This record gives sequence, structure tokens and C-alpha cells, in this order.
Amino acid sequence: MNSAGVIWITGASSGIGAALAREMAAHGWQIAASGRNRERLDALCADAPEAIHAFELDVTDTKANERVVAEIQQQLGPIDIAVFNAGVGSQFNATHFDAADVQDRMTVNYGGAVNGIGAVLPAMLEHGKGQIAMTASVAGFRGLPGGAPYSASKAAMIALAEGLKLDLEGQGIDVSVITPGFVRTPMTDKNRFPMPFMIDVEDAARRIRRGLAGKRFEITFPRRLSYTVKLLQRLPYALYFPIIRRIARL
Ligand SMILES: NC(=O)c1ccc[n+]([C@@H]2O[C@H](COP(=O)([O-])OP(=O)(O)OC[C@H]3O[C@@H](n4cnc5c(N)ncnc54)[C@H](OP(=O)(O)O)[C@@H]3O)[C@@H](O)[C@H]2O)c1
Repeated sequence: MNSAGVIWITGASSGIGAALAREMAAHGWQIAASGRNRERLDALCADAPEAIHAFELDVTDTKANERVVAEIQQQLGPIDIAVFNAGVGSQFNATHFDAADVQDRMTVNYGGAVNGIGAVLPAMLEHGKGQIAMTASVAGFRGLPGGAPYSASKAAMIALAEGLKLDLEGQGIDVSVITPGFVRTPMTDKNRFPMPFMIDVEDAARRIRRGLAGKRFEITFPRRLSYTVKLLQRLPYALYFPIIRRIARL
């Protein structure tokens, strides 16, 4: 089968990234799969050895991002789509505010995407085409109790995507922001609070693939949750704070 193109996915060693790699492989893509955990990357590659290729990477390392992009281009050819999906998130206790831990969410989630874009964009601009997507979250729509650092990192990614879309649309570069609600992955397996409208990771991967194929700016799902949070986003503080306090107590 002729390749549909080359897609680079960070955070591909687990959860949404791994499912997206399998989904894209099933649709004829060559996948450059990045993550730090070599064993999990190798296990993913074994699922589709002709299509999925491991490129070990810590996204917080700027130079390593540049090195990996050069290796992907050399081994697989120009990168058509880059999905910056690597992320960390866990419950946050504001009364035990640990600055290093709070910074870490920003360094990996937002900083990792920034490093990846910096590495891949020059070649895309040179070719006059390319697609960049970032996995943010519905948690980036508003500050949430128990998740301020995570929300802040995802809000930064959404704002980055909006601005880049406007700046790059005349250059042949499409930008997307992916804002999932709850998806069953090792990240959410740790959560001990209710996660309404949770979906399976394969379902999430299918929705992301379709959104990327349609070059949609916003890929958001499940809509029952994301549109509800979007409604909350539009409320003035006088209404938002009491409503979100009540929801958090449920
Ligand atoms: N699950 C959800 O409900 C949900 C909802 C909204 C948004 N998201 C977002 O979706 C993305 C994927 O999450 P997930 O649920 O699939 O979580 P996951 O299963 O925990 O996967 C996280 C991925 O990020 C990678 N990663 C973490 N730190 C990294 C680093 N410094 N360098 C390179 N890779 C790193 C991990 O790989 P290594 O450990 O191998 O490095 C792993 O592949 C995240 O950005 C998350 O915030 C998830």
C-alpha cells in the first residue's frame, strides 16, 4: 500500500498517542512514534512493524527535538502532520503548592509542544505545507478546582494554537487544537473523582484521525462534555464560581 504520509506523534508510548499511532497505521500512514519509555515504544511498533517507528524523545529537551525531527526526515521523509500529544497531569493540592511540580506541567505540556513546533516548522514552511496539532484538553477552557496547573498549561496550548493558526494560514500550514474530555488511559486511571461521559481510547483516536483528515481547527469530544464546559466558559465569574463549586462537590 502506498503511504498516506508521515505523521509524528509525541506521547505515543501510552494512552491516546499509542491509540492514534495504531489508528493512523491502519489507515496507511507511516508513524514516527515518540516517548521516553523505550520498552513501551517497542511494544507499540511490534503491533505494526511496517508502519510504526520508534524515535525516543524527552519533549522538554529542545536540542533532542531538533535531532529527532532530522532523524525522522532522513528515515521516513518530510513530516506531513505533527501531533504534540505528550502530557502530564495529576491532582493538585493548592495548600501544598510545590513550584517545581507546578512548573513541570507547563514545561512538559506547553513547553514540549513549543519545542516540537520549533523543530518541525522550518521544514514545513520550506515545503509550503504541513499540519500541526496539539493535544490540549477541555480542562484548558477554564480554571478548575484541583487542577489549576494542568488547566493553565492546556489554556496556554489553546491560545498558542489560535494565534499560530492565524499567523500560519497563508503559509500552507494548518493548525489544530485537540480538546478531549475524559478518555480511559493510564492518566485517568489514577483519578479518584467522577469522570462524566468517559470514552475509550480507540474512540478518541478515531475522532482525532477524522478531525485531522478534515483539517479542522478544533477537534473536541465528546461534545456532551466539551459543549457543557464551553457554556461554563462564557459565564461571568459571579455565576461560574458558585456553579463549578457545586459541580466539584458532587
Ligand atoms: N486521558 C484523558 O482523559 C485526557 C483528556 C484531555 C487531554 N488529555 C491529554 O492527552 C495527552 C495524552 O494523555 P493520555 O491520557 O494518553 O496519558 P498517558 O497514557 O499518561 O500518556 C502520556 C504520554 O505522554 C508522554 N510523556 C510524558 N512526559 C513526557 C516527556 N517529558 N517527554 C516525552 N513524552 C512524555 C508519555 O510517554 P513516556 O512516559 O514514555 O515519556 C506518554 O506517552 C496528554 O497531553 C493529556 O494531557 C488526556
